[in-house]
Amino acid sequence: MYPFEERLHYGQYVTARLTRRTPVYDWYAFPHSFSRELVHELLDEFGVDSNSIVFDPFVGAGTTLLACRERGIPAFGIDQLPFAVFTSNVKICNYDPDDLQHTLDRFTPSASSPHVFGSVPIIDRAFSSEVRKRVAAIHSWTQSLREKQARFFLLALLYILESVSQTAKSGGWLRFVENEVDPDSVEELFKARARKMIDDIRGLDMPHNRGLWYAMPGDARCKSSSHRRAQYVISSPPYLNRHDYTRVFALEMALHFVKTNRELISLRTNALRSHVEAKSQTKLTHNGYQAPERLKTLATKIESESKERDKKRIPSMVRGYFEDIYMTLASLYERIGRGGKIAFVLGNVRFSGMMIPVDEIVAEIGEQAGFETDKIVVARYRGNSAQQMARFGRDPSRESIIVWHKVS
Ligand SMILES: C[S@@+](CC[C@H](N)C(=O)[O-])C[C@H]1O[C@@H](n2cnc3c(N)ncnc32)[C@H](O)[C@@H]1O
Repeated sequence: MYPFEERLHYGQYVTARLTRRTPVYDWYAFPHSFSRELVHELLDEFGVDSNSIVFDPFVGAGTTLLACRERGIPAFGIDQLPFAVFTSNVKICNYDPDDLQHTLDRFTPSASSPHVFGSVPIIDRAFSSEVRKRVAAIHSWTQSLREKQARFFLLALLYILESVSQTAKSGGWLRFVENEVDPDSVEELFKARARKMIDDIRGLDMPHNRGLWYAMPGDARCKSSSHRRAQYVISSPPYLNRHDYTRVFALEMALHFVKTNRELISLRTNALRSHVEAKSQTKLTHNGYQAPERLKTLATKIESESKERDKKRIPSMVRGYFEDIYMTLASLYERIGRGGKIAFVLGNVRFSGMMIPVDEIVAEIGEQAGFETDKIVVARYRGNSAQQMARFGRDPSRESIIVWHKVS
């Protein structure tokens, strides 16, 4: 049993709600982005100053990096999804707002091939051909600019994609919706978004980024993902909730980051095993990992209680998820120094009526990797899906922050 501490005022900090209203942070938020407030709380609690380095192995939309930058604390991150690395880097760059405005004033999208999107099947259904042409024209305009500006304006375009499509991100999924889109509105939406981003920069008071903040591609489970060391980790691994970021961000990925569906599928299967399509990676090792006893019992129960099609794949995902978390923590053990601290934001889940205490199991796995658990901070209790509540009754699941430190 680990020390639990309830801090329910953190409830709003562990969701993307505040991030979606905070300038620059809101240039793009992920479904499970946490907020700058959470990072600031943890930096204070750990006593982090500008002499230390913070690392985020699942950088997502770059919240940890930006919050550290506000305080002049060097921070870097990795992510397996190129779109996440791109978004984080665009947010932490320095810009001259007058320069950007000057470029936007001369915005002249020109007709270009509508085939700018990678060959990902969803695209044909997601956009009308006229909208696709407009998006392609703006994309090719962004790519005619100098590199830093090209990336800035491309993020503005990526942001509006969903609103001009027949899709909606709903929770962790992308679903089809009816959406009447006037193709003539695409350019106006893009310009409005770019103007908002430029205004954000004018109101910004951030230290100059002299290379102290950056994101790069990498796999959190891999010990060789850059050897730069850090003292602190503030991060949120994918939740064990079956959400697949390559599907949620399929439009964004297809516009700029993959040319073929095969590339997208390869990212999907190589992701952390938080969804059923991610596969075990033979190139990664998990020496020393012992599945915790209660995980073994839960996985066996889920297997016997699941519907036929889930009998194999859900228990296999659950087992794989914790094995991947072990590999991540073992790799962090090598990266951080003595006295270093880690905070992981995670949520408990339920399959076939069985609640999986992800926070407690992950705390135990952290100890296997060599860390000592300080505490599990409970940020909120979430209801489960309406479907599950109807079947199993309301039994809220915890969303927690697991904190460890490295003793030697
Ligand atoms: C919960 S999100 C992180 C959100 C982030 N804290 C924020 O505030 O935006 C989890 C991230 O993990 C990434 N991811 C999945 N598998 C990974 C892996 N094996 N290595 C590194 N990143 C991975 C996903 O692409 C996603 O961006």
